[in-house]
Amino acid sequence: MNAPHTHLPRHLLTLHDLERGTLDALLVRAQAFAEGHYDRRALDGIAVCTLFFEPSTRTRMSFTLAAQRLGADVINFDASTSSTRKGETALDTLKNLEAMGVRGFVVRHHEDGAVAGLSAHVNDGTVLVNAGDGRSAHPTQGLLDMLTLRQAKGADFSKLKVLVVGDVKHSRVARSDLQALRALGTDDIRVCGPASLLPDDGTLQGCNVSHDLDAALEGVDAVMMLRLQRERMEEGLIASLDDYHRAYGLTASRLKRAAGDAVVMHPGPINRGVEITDEVADGPQSLILRQVSNGVAVRMAVLEALLRG
Ligand code: CP
Repeated sequence: MNAPHTHLPRHLLTLHDLERGTLDALLVRAQAFAEGHYDRRALDGIAVCTLFFEPSTRTRMSFTLAAQRLGADVINFDASTSSTRKGETALDTLKNLEAMGVRGFVVRHHEDGAVAGLSAHVNDGTVLVNAGDGRSAHPTQGLLDMLTLRQAKGADFSKLKVLVVGDVKHSRVARSDLQALRALGTDDIRVCGPASLLPDDGTLQGCNVSHDLDAALEGVDAVMMLRLQRERMEEGLIASLDDYHRAYGLTASRLKRAAGDAVVMHPGPINRGVEITDEVADGPQSLILRQVSNGVAVRMAVLEALLRG
């Protein structure tokens, strides 16, 4: 099976500016991978490094599996046991790994724009994938979320009513999801959260913004819950976790306001009992673990497109 022509840029830093055709091609390819159709030697002889300066479970492990399934040599850089501890910069680290022959870098960093900054200094033939930078972007999470929605609701996003709930202000997932939903033509994109956790930087352009979760849930086809990003949050943005849960937690009774076949998503890790109850997270409408499965397939599609395309 040949890789599709996806018009991806050299590095995948953001979903901003990606055209619908490119997204569709990646999602179709990822769907084939999800169904087990792939060449285990597609990335034979290519070295890929997961270069993470922030913690991760899902993204890092699924990129590792994705690269391994396509036959790449995979190394995982652990900042906590590396020369980062002696003060080595992210760029020096990357350049040293590049000197060892690594061609693909999957990079997570706490600073906005850090991965784009690194991409300006790499050799011809080296490619970077942004695995989450600060609050800015998490493009492969956006893609896996779109694949999950596509499987559940079909390829036509135009009639979907999608609600994004919670801490959009600190969420790179929300930014990538909103960019992807717009690019795929979703007409009714709703965003709900406390005013203190909604950004005023243009992220919510074109969205129906509300602070009333019960009203926002009416008739939606998909509810995308966000994690409260307490590690990026200044003090005082929410009164307490209990108050937040009362106003913005997704419970089984609240979910009844959505369409009967509505699906529930969450990028993980979940703050159980805060943004979502166990009953909903583990319930029949939850696609949370499907999202995780799709992460492997989407990351295979991205690595293939960048490293072989
Ligand atoms: N969704 C997500 O990025 O999870 P991790 O932080 O565990 O990678």
